[in-house]
Amino acid sequence: MRALLAANWKMHLFTAQARDLLLELNRLGAEEKMPFPIVICPSHIHLRMAKEHLAACEVGAQNGYPGEFGAYTGEVSMAQLWELGCRYVIVGHSERRQYFGEAGALLRDKVLDAQARGLRVIYCVGETAAQRQAGQTLTVLQRQLEEVLRGATIAWSQLILAYEPVWAIGTGVNATPQQAQEAHAFIRARLKDLGAPEEAIPLLYGGSIKPNNAEALFSQPDVDGGLVGGASLVAQDFWAIAQALKKAKGASS
Ligand code: PGA
Repeated sequence: MRALLAANWKMHLFTAQARDLLLELNRLGAEEKMPFPIVICPSHIHLRMAKEHLAACEVGAQNGYPGEFGAYTGEVSMAQLWELGCRYVIVGHSERRQYFGEAGALLRDKVLDAQARGLRVIYCVGETAAQRQAGQTLTVLQRQLEEVLRGATIAWSQLILAYEPVWAIGTGVNATPQQAQEAHAFIRARLKDLGAPEEAIPLLYGGSIKPNNAEALFSQPDVDGGLVGGASLVAQDFWAIAQALKKAKGASS
C-alpha cells in the first residue's frame, strides 16, 4: 500500500487549539476509517499530547537532530522523538533548507540516523519558482535525491518521498496534476536508478493541497498521497482531503 496522508502543522497552534484539533480529528477518524496511514506532525511541544490523544492517526515530528544525546542546544534528537512515540519525521522541508540552511550532508545524516532509530522518514524535495522558470526543475530534484540517498544504506521500506515545489507551498497556487505527475514519475525513475524498490515507495505531493484540488492531484498514477500544511489546521478540510485520497485510490490504496 503506497497511499499515505501527512499533516504538517508547522509553527502553529497554542495548546488548547492543538487539543481541539486533535479531538476533532479523532472524532472524524472514529466515524470513518481510512485505508491508509494518516500522520500528524505538530510542533514538538504538542507531540506528547498528540500521542496521548490520537487513536486513528500516527504521530510524526517536523524535524529532528541526529544522535541520541549531546551538546546541541535547542535541538531534539531522533532518539528522543522515538522514545516519545513518534514513528515518522519530516526531513529536508524547503523551509528548513531556506531559513535554517539545511542541505546535503546534514540531511543525509538526519535520514540515516532517523532510520537507525526506527523512524520512517518523509524526505522532501522541490524546486523554487526561479529554478522552474529556468528549466532546472528535474536537475534540482535529481540533485536533492542523489546528495542524500546515493551510496547510503537507506532502509527503503522506511522512506517516503514528498515532492513540494517551493512556489506552491503556502501560496494557494498548487502544481497542476500534470506538473505533479511529471515530477513524481521522474522521482520514481531516479529512485530506481538509486537501487530502490521504486514501486513500493510512497510519493506524496505537497503545496497548497485543498479540498477542491486534492482529488485531481491524487488521481495521478504516481501521486500516492499528500503532505498538507495550511489545510491541515482545519479538521474538516484535512478530513475532506483524506476522503479525496480514499476516493482517488479506491481499493488500490
Ligand atoms: P501548504 O504547505 O499545504 O500550506 O502549502 C505544505 C507543506 O509545506 O508541507
